Amino acid sequence: MAVRIGFIGAGGNANWHMDMLRDVADAQVVAVTDLAFDKAKAAGEKHGAKPYSSHKVMLEEEKLDCCYISVPPYQHGEPEIDVIHKGLPFFVEKPLATSWDLVADIAERIEKRGIGTCVGYQIRYLDIMDRAKKMLEGAFVNMVQGHYVCGAIGGWYTRLALSGGQITEQATHMLDLMRFLLGDVEWVCASKRQGVVVTADTLDASALGKGSVSSQTAGLQLHDYNIWDATTLLMQFESGTPGTFVCSCQVNYMFEVLLDIFTTDFRLKIDYEKMAIIRKVGGETTTEVIQADTSPKIDATFINAVKTGDFSKVRSNYADAMKSLAVSLAAVESAETGEIVLATD
Ligand SMILES: NC(=O)c1ccc[n+]([C@@H]2O[C@H](COP(=O)([O-])OP(=O)(O)OC[C@H]3O[C@@H](n4cnc5c(N)ncnc54)[C@H](O)[C@@H]3O)[C@@H](O)[C@H]2O)c1
Repeated sequence: MAVRIGFIGAGGNANWHMDMLRDVADAQVVAVTDLAFDKAKAAGEKHGAKPYSSHKVMLEEEKLDCCYISVPPYQHGEPEIDVIHKGLPFFVEKPLATSWDLVADIAERIEKRGIGTCVGYQIRYLDIMDRAKKMLEGAFVNMVQGHYVCGAIGGWYTRLALSGGQITEQATHMLDLMRFLLGDVEWVCASKRQGVVVTADTLDASALGKGSVSSQTAGLQLHDYNIWDATTLLMQFESGTPGTFVCSCQVNYMFEVLLDIFTTDFRLKIDYEKMAIIRKVGGETTTEVIQADTSPKIDATFINAVKTGDFSKVRSNYADAMKSLAVSLAAVESAETGEIVLATD
C-alpha cells in the first residue's frame, strides 16, 4: 500500500530526499510545501505532487501517512507541532533546532502522542558504521579525534541566529557519529575563532588586523556573516574516553571530515565514505581500507517504519538526536563562557 508523503520545505536537501524516495517501494510524494511557492511548484511538477505555500493548508487538505520536515534550523517549531497535532509520523532534518527549549517542547508532544520519528543523520546507516560499531564493542578506546574542515556554504548558514553556526548545523554529523560509535558525551570544553570574514552584525571591522582579510571578501559578505570560523572541543565521553574535535568553515581549499579512533588493539580512521583499519599483525603494521556502500538507506528505513509502525530500525529518532544537539549547544555555551559544560541535560 502506498505511503502518502507530504514535504515541508522544498530546498536542496528536500529535493535530494524526494529523488531518493523514487526508489523506495510504496513511497509516494503527494504534496510539497515551501514558503517560496515556486520551489514547491517545481518539486511538485517533478514528482507529481500538489504544491502548497503553507504546510497548514497542506495538512488540512491532504490525506497523508507521514511528513518530511526539511527547513533551515531557525524555521523549526510550527511545522513539527502541526504535524504532531495531526498525529503523523515525521522525518526531520538535523539539526533539530537551535534552541533547547523548543526541542524539549516538541519532544514532550511527540512522547504524549506516541509519534514515530526519524532524524536525518544518514551517516549512521552506512555499512562501514555497522562494522566499526561491532569492532568497538568490547574494545578499549583510548581516545578519539575528529575534524570537519571545509569552506562556508552560503545563505542562512552564515548567520548564527539562523543556522546555529558550523558546530550546530554541519559538524553535528560527526558529533552524532561519535555518539553512535562511542556512546554519550558527558561534558565539553570549547574555544572558538571569529573574524576571518568581516561582519557588521557582530564585529567591528577596525578590530581586525590590517591585511587580515581582503576588502573584496569583507565587502562581499558584509552584514551576512557572523558564524564562527573555527570551533575546537575537548570532550569527555560517559565511557571515560577522552576526545577532541575541531571544525572550521574557513578552509576553503578543502573538504575533509574525519574520525580517528584509537583503541589498544587497532585504529579506525573513518571518513564519510571509507574506513581504514590499522593494526599490527605479526610485527607488521597493516592497513585494510573498506569503501562504504553509499546507497542511501535512511529513506527506505523511515518509510518501512511508517508502513509497519515499527520504528526500531530507525537509528536516530527525535529523542536520540536531542543528545547530539545537546553536545553542540554545550560547545557553544562553553566557547562563550570559558566554562566546562555538561552535555547530558
Ligand atoms: N542530512 C544531511 O546530510 C543534510 C544535507 C543538507 C541539508 N540538510 C539539512 O536540511 C535542512 C534544509 O537544508 P537545505 O540545504 O535544503 O536548505 P535550503 O535553503 O536549500 O532549503 C530550505 C527550504 O525551506 C523553505 N522553508 C523555510 N521555512 C519553511 C516553512 N516554515 N515551511 C515551508 N518551507 C520552508 C525555504 O523556503 C527553502 O526553500 C537544514 O536543516 C540542513 O541542515 C541536511
